[in-house]
Amino acid sequence: EDGKYILFKGLLVPKLSHSSESLQYAADFQVRDDDVFGVTYPKSGTTWMQEILPLVLNGGDLTPVQTIPNWDRVPWLEETRAALILDSQPPPRAIVSHLPYWLMPQSFYQSKAKVIYVTRNPKDIAVSSFHFHKMASFLDDPGTFDEFLENFLSGQVLFGKWTDHVKSWRNPDIEDRILYVTYEEMVQDLKGVLSRFAQFLGQELTPEALEKVANHCQFSNMKTNAMSNYSLVPQEIMDSSKTPFLRKGIVGDWRNHFSPEQEARFSAIVREEMKGSSFQFPWDE
Ligand code: A3P
Repeated sequence: EDGKYILFKGLLVPKLSHSSESLQYAADFQVRDDDVFGVTYPKSGTTWMQEILPLVLNGGDLTPVQTIPNWDRVPWLEETRAALILDSQPPPRAIVSHLPYWLMPQSFYQSKAKVIYVTRNPKDIAVSSFHFHKMASFLDDPGTFDEFLENFLSGQVLFGKWTDHVKSWRNPDIEDRILYVTYEEMVQDLKGVLSRFAQFLGQELTPEALEKVANHCQFSNMKTNAMSNYSLVPQEIMDSSKTPFLRKGIVGDWRNHFSPEQEARFSAIVREEMKGSSFQFPWDE
């Protein structure tokens, strides 16, 4: 535990956006059956879900994504702004969370609230997170890439170990109300994924709306949306001159960062830890 983080049930969370009150709010949150959660391990596509969920839930009306910053449009359950937004939000509420399954609010487990869980190749997550740590002053300096990888593998990073997070959400208790999707599928076939989301959430999206939403949620368009690209955050907090928050938006950037040794060690550890889980690696490792 150090100056920039709170240690919450063994997990590191940034003090800038979390407090003991906000974490308690999350624990006590009264989940409604019509709530929709987008759950991610950090750097797996959270901001993308904050763009997509309101559009799928409102038939493709761009107003919220053009007028409300992503953190207030679809707040993180565990962050300090959640209470300000969620208590007065009309249903269906779209909420994101980085919480592992075992730290969800007590009321979640008995609810019928739906969950979309986005996974991404952990090698690309590590790269994305490494760059994020360099531009965000509320996070520790990541050190060298090699040092950062060791912290990532041992879970000394935000929200703990990737493998623990992914395994926790592969829980048979919620199999009838969770949809698993990968960042890689979203990059490859966003329209197909959006159709799956609409169907899963019981929403109608006309072909025109689907086209409009897919176009709006493309990386290049989100990058220019001030409500989603974090340009509203002061440079002292996020310095996009070092690297933009919406950085590359591609699959496989790990190939530009990992040495063969790092790749072998990383893959061996992750594969070993994922043994016995129903989780399948859907991407080319
Ligand atoms: P990169 O750093 O690899 O570019 P999160 O929102 O969970 O913090 O994840 C951020 C990552 O998702 C960043 O990855 C960001 O560029 C990527 N991302 C956000 N919106 C995207 C989009 N529309 N298409 C592709 N990638 C997107």
